[in-house]
Amino acid sequence: MDVETVMEAARTAASRAYAPYSNFQVGAAILTKAGNIHPGSNVENASYGLSICAERTAATAMASADPEDREIELVAVYSPNAAPCFPCGACRQVLREFGCKEIVVHDGQSIQRYPFDEILPNSFGPENL
Ligand code: THU
Repeated sequence: MDVETVMEAARTAASRAYAPYSNFQVGAAILTKAGNIHPGSNVENASYGLSICAERTAATAMASADPEDREIELVAVYSPNAAPCFPCGACRQVLREFGCKEIVVHDGQSIQRYPFDEILPNSFGPENL
């Protein structure tokens, strides 16, 4: 699976965001170790604090899709409102749970790839328990 295909899934997911309060649309697409793509968009709520980011929408979709395929190879993130758009701190920790190896963003010109260790250094995860 090439990274452009995963970014395209993130772009499509961004177009499906439910973001009537911030008008900030985000799409994420998770590529799993087995080669499956799980997209997600941000879903906001009139009770603002209940809004969920695109990355966590995608992560919950992945986790509940197949218990045998919960290892994340990479996550592509796309927003028409920010180039590049990086995952927030909370989402970084959730992606860490599933062993995410790489974060991929689009800077408006091209795709940029970051090792997950650079995105969340010295992280805490399941292996630490
Ligand atoms: N948001 C995401 O979905 N992912 C990010 O990486 C950054 C922020 C959402 C949350 C909220 O719905 C909107 O963008 C503005 O913060």
